[in-house]
Amino acid sequence: MAPRKILLQERDLPTHWYNITPDLPRPLDPPLNPATKQPIGPEALAPIFPMELIKQEVSAERLIEIPDEVREKYLLYRPTPLQRALALEKALDTPAHIYYKNESVSPPGSHKPNTAIAQAYYNKMQGVKRIATETGAGQWGSALAMACNMFGLECTVYMVKVSYHQKPYRRSLMEIWGAKVFSSPTDLTNAGRAVLKEHPDSLGSLGIAISEAIEDAATHDDTKYSLGSVLNHVLLHQTIVGQETKKQMEMAGEYPDVVIGCVGGGSNFGGFSFPFIADRLTKGAKVRAVAVEPEACPTLTKGKYIYDFGDTAQQTPLLKMYTLGHDFVPPGIHAGGLRYHGDAPLLCSLYDQGIVEAVACHQNPVFEAAMLFARTEGIIPAPETAHAIRVVVDEALEAKKAGEKRVIAFNFSGHGHFDLAAYDAYLAGQLEDYEYPKEEIERSLAKVPKV
Ligand SMILES: Cc1ncc(COP(=O)(O)O)c(C=O)c1O
Repeated sequence: MAPRKILLQERDLPTHWYNITPDLPRPLDPPLNPATKQPIGPEALAPIFPMELIKQEVSAERLIEIPDEVREKYLLYRPTPLQRALALEKALDTPAHIYYKNESVSPPGSHKPNTAIAQAYYNKMQGVKRIATETGAGQWGSALAMACNMFGLECTVYMVKVSYHQKPYRRSLMEIWGAKVFSSPTDLTNAGRAVLKEHPDSLGSLGIAISEAIEDAATHDDTKYSLGSVLNHVLLHQTIVGQETKKQMEMAGEYPDVVIGCVGGGSNFGGFSFPFIADRLTKGAKVRAVAVEPEACPTLTKGKYIYDFGDTAQQTPLLKMYTLGHDFVPPGIHAGGLRYHGDAPLLCSLYDQGIVEAVACHQNPVFEAAMLFARTEGIIPAPETAHAIRVVVDEALEAKKAGEKRVIAFNFSGHGHFDLAAYDAYLAGQLEDYEYPKEEIERSLAKVPKV
């Protein structure tokens, strides 16, 4: 019988995170000061991030040691299982072998604690008292709430309004772990008030919530800001996922032809795929890497590769990335964690160089794949994760058509136990497939600064 779960021991937990920066074929374009359009130095980030994270953000070291205190917390749920989706393979009648790295086994239910724990630790070491952040779907906010609780830090979360109402129990989870949660846009910050003045019924967006959290951190001495995706140090922390997967694939005696992940800001995709992409860049491995995004927020497939702000209120440095424009507010799809106008500069650079592929999907086919997964493998996927599953199913069906054995591995980034309203809407035939909002994006891109 083929194994269903490939398990590592606690002693196999990786000791280092993998930094892809030194292996990039082309150096990353630096973040710019929006006023001078000159590269910023690490000191520009000091008011909002602790120094150790800033060092990681700009590091050229290939391997960065994981502190013992962080590894000890990781052991609460890591190493996570790599699972073979035998029942899904059977249902699809495909010769493909499908593996998924199950990050849903963490207490909040996703990959997000891998960086939340590390970030809370470095903030604690620097004497910070409180962390402010944004959350889309609530997965990131709950991960950071748990991590702050572990290290005795206060936590304030600006939760995108559409998710705040779609997912009230994510808010409960954050409050159980001790965080204060606000529906964004709020009237607590200048950024929130400015949006409410123009759009009193704004559904919110990650860009707006990020502005609120940064402003909170920048205006309180004891508070720092924390981001759950996009930045180099976040993707770095997530590489624990891909490194474990590589060991587990070796144990299974296989190597993936294709690795797949959904993309909101790029952290679960990057963390999962970068250790494999390293094999491609440094050892000539043939592995493909496919990033999956929503049609309603098609950053890689329809965005522009230019310098833009990371947030709506233009408080961040300018980042070179694929973007739909910093004030683009995506339609209220249920994959709240994928409603971000930009993507990680590391991922964007790899996509621009043709090393990563990208596909955009509509909600209904995504939920159709999620239902198939739930009815075969049992676990109910988060709507974000279901984007990856859609493309996994399509790859497996293509393999069947071509009559070839294809080894497919994907990051099962989170479960959907708090997303049942979305499943109800799907089952009732009420999910809308939003057209790609071309005019909205053009209007928004027109406001991006010229560099
Ligand atoms: C389960 C899940 N997967 C994926 C994402 C997307 O984020 P990222 O692209 O940083 O992995 C989120 C974001 O909230 C999420 O909750």
